[in-house]
Amino acid sequence: MNARSVRHVIESVPTSDGAGVKLRRSLGSGPFARLDPFLMLDEFYSDNPDDYLAGFPSHPHRGFETVTYMLDGRMEHKDHLGNTGDLGPGSVQWMTAGRGVIHSEMPRQSEGRMRGFQLWINLPAREKMKPADYRDIPSGDVPELAFDGGIARIIAGTLDMAGQRVDGAVNGTGDSMSTDPLYIDLRLDPGSKTTIAVKSGHNSFVYLYEGDAVIGDQLLQRRNAGVLDGGDQVTVQAGDQGARLLLLAGKPLDEPVVQYGPFVMNTREEIEQALSDYQEGRLTEPA
Ligand code: FE2
Repeated sequence: MNARSVRHVIESVPTSDGAGVKLRRSLGSGPFARLDPFLMLDEFYSDNPDDYLAGFPSHPHRGFETVTYMLDGRMEHKDHLGNTGDLGPGSVQWMTAGRGVIHSEMPRQSEGRMRGFQLWINLPAREKMKPADYRDIPSGDVPELAFDGGIARIIAGTLDMAGQRVDGAVNGTGDSMSTDPLYIDLRLDPGSKTTIAVKSGHNSFVYLYEGDAVIGDQLLQRRNAGVLDGGDQVTVQAGDQGARLLLLAGKPLDEPVVQYGPFVMNTREEIEQALSDYQEGRLTEPA
């Protein structure tokens, strides 16, 4: 077994998106702060409604997938396909923009805490123009594994830990996605330590959102992403306060990435096509 260590740290930076929602962006904070196939990771966390009430009014996407994972609060999703999603605490929304989605994500609360993550996962060239797809996964359908020293929620992929294997809500055994994503939300008690298998050859990172933790000899602090080097497993040890973190891994696509806001394609021409399709109302039309 070959343990992965932290190759470098991407600190999150405060920014805003949508109609002014305040958030912290780690991956995706610049064109070099990506980790193929992951394009972006945002954490939104606020007790102040002024930070989130404006929400994300109607906007397009093309060429990749967005995964929203809620910890606290409630958002409502609506899209051009007529899907309506109620995103409550612990739930996941897995949206494949493919050729095009036009949707809104608006708060369904006017006070209290709003907290969660949005991850963008790229699609390979051959899938960028596939039909849009949308999956709403209520909290109760996200598999969990309680173990000595913590608990893991398995959003995507298969958790392989201490001889136990648990399929996630998406992309488990029998399900397959080109990027083969692993997405685990891990909570560790103070001082506890665990080792999780990560497929060798896949790119992987962790995002620490509470407490602190050590991977290899690197202390990872809150709101930082630690990009891992190669290996087939990762060992995380929580600090005195315990730790909560996301563990992500995926198969790299090794394709050129050209991004213009919510459109992520392989070439400039395809971006220009996306813009004109959107302006002419053809973004979401079947090919
Ligand atoms: Fe969106």
